[in-house]
Amino acid sequence: MAALPTVVFPVAGMGTRMLPATKATPKELLPVYDTPLLQFAVDEALAAGARRLVFVSHPEKSAIEEYLRPAPRLEKGLAEKGKDDLLEAVRNASVPGDVDVVFVMQHEPLGLGHAVLQAADHLLEGPVGVILPDDLMLGPPCLAEMADAFVPGDMRSLIAAQEVPRDRVSSYGIFDCTPGEAAATPARGLVEKPDPDDAPSRLAAVGRYVLDPSVFDTLRDTEPGTGGEIQLTDAIASTGAIHAFRFSGTRFDCGNPDGIVDATLAVQQMRNAPALNVAAE
Ligand code: G1P
Repeated sequence: MAALPTVVFPVAGMGTRMLPATKATPKELLPVYDTPLLQFAVDEALAAGARRLVFVSHPEKSAIEEYLRPAPRLEKGLAEKGKDDLLEAVRNASVPGDVDVVFVMQHEPLGLGHAVLQAADHLLEGPVGVILPDDLMLGPPCLAEMADAFVPGDMRSLIAAQEVPRDRVSSYGIFDCTPGEAAATPARGLVEKPDPDDAPSRLAAVGRYVLDPSVFDTLRDTEPGTGGEIQLTDAIASTGAIHAFRFSGTRFDCGNPDGIVDATLAVQQMRNAPALNVAAE
């Protein structure tokens, strides 16, 4: 499998769609059945071969750093009490020692493009993965599928894509593209949150990106766009060689309470019948 050395996690957002649940708990740490959203994202990055995880966070969300820190006292206590299954769960929730964990702060909510740009000084050589943790992907690890499908040189971006209803296109980056048989389809363009009347399609970008490092150069010069924010979509569009990716898993929008409920039920089913592939149902 082609590996993605660096994966960036924009986690600075205030999670207003999930208040009051997110008043004191970052939305990325909300549980989906038995596991915080963030853990699914970290596992997906590791499955894509990441050697460095860059979290673009906010000083008020220090619980995320705390979650990722090793917990020797907790582990020792569980070991002493012989609670081996819980000990394993805690150990599985930590990042392997040979993987770097880097935190950078985004103090102002200046947009997803601005958030991703904060990671620019911390990239290892090679294409860069981006995971938006509130888009939860279950089934075959999405970012690893994308790392495999990414062709450096031919592609400057490869973005997970999903059809959405017409009345939802104004919540997403929308591709100008006609998907064919192949998993990766070249797109003529990508527009951020278009009006349904102007949208080039109903194919939406959903929370997983593989980016050529040149997208970061473009981001430095990207002016604020939709909503007055610096948009990742705009930098991807002006870098060109955009590709939409049809992933094989199932996506859950966990930025809203109903999405968390749906995801929780799906994970419950997975835990109770691990052999079942939720994505295939
Ligand atoms: C962001 C991106 C958008 C993308 C979406 C996927 O929007 O700007 O292009 O389609 O994530 O979840 P947000 O949900 O942060 O408004």
